[in-house]
Amino acid sequence: MMKIAVLPGDGIGPEIVTQALRVLAVLKNEGMEMTFTEAPLGGQAYDQYGHPYPEFTQKVCREADAVLLGAVGGPQYDNLDRPLRPERGLLGIRKDLGLFANLRPANLYPELANASTLKPEVVAGLDIMIVRELTGDVYFGQPRGMRVNDEGEREGFNTMVYKESEVRRIAHVAFDIAMKRGKKLCSVDKANVLETTEFWKEIVIDVAKEYPEVELSHMYVDNAAMQLIRNPKQFDVMVTGNIFGDILSDEASMLTGSIGMLASASLNETKKGLYEPSHGSAPDIAGKNLANPIATILSVAMMMRYSFDHEAVATRIENAIKKVLAAGYRTSDIFEEGTKKVSCSEMGDQIVAAM
Ligand code: IPM
Ligand code: MG
Repeated sequence: MMKIAVLPGDGIGPEIVTQALRVLAVLKNEGMEMTFTEAPLGGQAYDQYGHPYPEFTQKVCREADAVLLGAVGGPQYDNLDRPLRPERGLLGIRKDLGLFANLRPANLYPELANASTLKPEVVAGLDIMIVRELTGDVYFGQPRGMRVNDEGEREGFNTMVYKESEVRRIAHVAFDIAMKRGKKLCSVDKANVLETTEFWKEIVIDVAKEYPEVELSHMYVDNAAMQLIRNPKQFDVMVTGNIFGDILSDEASMLTGSIGMLASASLNETKKGLYEPSHGSAPDIAGKNLANPIATILSVAMMMRYSFDHEAVATRIENAIKKVLAAGYRTSDIFEEGTKKVSCSEMGDQIVAAM
């Protein structure tokens, strides 16, 4: 039995999650055993419970095997106290469930090569997996805050810190993934300036001894940002800390030109995972049936692959999407002359039919 927690969230979250649930319903109707429990997260949760990650949602998520999330955030929450903002709901659930390994694929479907702002020859065939550490680094390090310093001047401060065990476990995840792909891993750091990441590099080199088949390289984050634009196809798997991974994964997603196509998985040590599209809540198009549900549906494929070991089911979902793209169906974010523009729910119809 697969116990799936469903967190629609804010903005376009409910619309795209509805389409992803239709794909799961196909599998359920065919006999896969699964249950769905819905709970609020982010602004939606703040409205209902006064907290972005309320106890009810904590309970539902802790009891689930996998969590399907839409997106969180919206302008109406921007003035809330920091601990009550939707983003804190996301950080809270990551920490609570120990979701330390964030997998963010950036791959380009041949049909969409024109969607990228880069030249087609630079991005055609692009297939990168970014492995971002998700529960450590300057995002969670203590102490943090704002204060008046000894000289009487106000300052803000955060702490960049990684424990050896944290680096080891994310390195293992990255090497394991590299073994299943092109056997190339690039570890991204800023070891020329930051001790935390010099330490990171040292540990990654040590873990590499267990993976003699994987070709390991190292790159400073500033150079990596440049290389991703210059020649992105040099990369297979990239592994990096929380803040660098946040930035580089947004950059990598735009290489494909369509952030509406990219899924993500955040896993803990027991393969429990949170699955969500890489894009945000897009408040400007919320409720208009315009959003692209593909990233969320691809997140369901990742759920089948990583939490439930159903590789064949994952591939089937991915193939259904390829088929629909090949047939020319496009939501407005990826629409171009000569293709058929469809709404969010119509894209869902097509993918369900192609299943
Ligand atoms: C992401 C987002 C989050 C992050 C925010 C919303 C807290 O940018 O998932 O990449 O920084 O991790
Ligand atoms: Mg981000």
